Amino acid sequence: MKKLLMTLVGFAALLGAVTASAGPEEDRKAMVNYFKQKFPDVKFEDYIYGALALDPDAKAQYDSIMEFPPYVEVLDKGKKMWETPFKNGKKYADCFPNGGKNAAAMYPMFDDKRGEVVIFDQALNDCRVANGEEPYKLDDAKTMGTLLAYARTLSDGAKVNVKVNGPAALAAYEDGKKTFYSRAGQLNFSCANCHVHGAGVRLRSELLSPALGHTTHGRYSVVVTTWSPCRYATRVATTRYVTCRMPRAACATRTWSSSSRT
Ligand code: HEC
Repeated sequence: MKKLLMTLVGFAALLGAVTASAGPEEDRKAMVNYFKQKFPDVKFEDYIYGALALDPDAKAQYDSIMEFPPYVEVLDKGKKMWETPFKNGKKYADCFPNGGKNAAAMYPMFDDKRGEVVIFDQALNDCRVANGEEPYKLDDAKTMGTLLAYARTLSDGAKVNVKVNGPAALAAYEDGKKTFYSRAGQLNFSCANCHVHGAGVRLRSELLSPALGHTTHGRYSVVVTTWSPCRYATRVATTRYVTCRMPRAACATRTWSSSSRT
């Protein structure tokens, strides 16, 4: 363990190369190129599988689970929620372009009016409030989680389509980038220590996933994701629970078991 930690700390020296001042598009390209060189055999489109992209055995297990996806029931419930009109007769689909198709791929989105970054979950809540309904708790799996799980499937196959337009959005981007590369917590690691330079390294029993693809997560369509890059990620799924909070900058719990958690 100690050796591993030392190795991860060693990666920090490389960070400068990736983080040198650049715009979002340059940063994106640098990140893609970094992983291309680091894992030349991994196909770009496979990064949506997270750590599974680096572990063929685990990926095969996942594929066999997906033959009968355990989350179909949740998606059915979410679909019903999505399609049920509000008291005023409007629907979620009325709040988004193209009735919500590919909408999730545009988030996190900088909202000029509010002057802050909004995640897709919040946009769903905004839609509720604008139509006279109470907002859901963002981390409630039964309400927001179920709705979000279905709403995200409307973006299945879409490419991430996050725009950083204008100085205020750029400032928010820079702030997030700083957080992503800043060390914090007990271990004094940054997100990048583990998910950029540490990707592919085993931390205890866990294989560290590449940051590339984190925002897509094609494999977890049934996930509550209150995930805005570099702030926090709380994910609740039928099969797993992951928490990565910035102050501790480490992921607390995660399970592959399909039975114990909801
Ligand atoms: C000490 C190492 C460490 C640090 C620091 C860390 N994580 Fe993690 N993270 C993990 C581990 C271990 C997992 C579970 C294995 C995996 O999928 O990477 C994980 C999982 C994740 C996942 C889910 C990935 C997936 O495919 O399901 C996301 C998203 C994530 N981390 C984001 C972050 C963010 C954002 C930060 C910084 C705020 C961060 N992590 C900091 C170790 C770390």
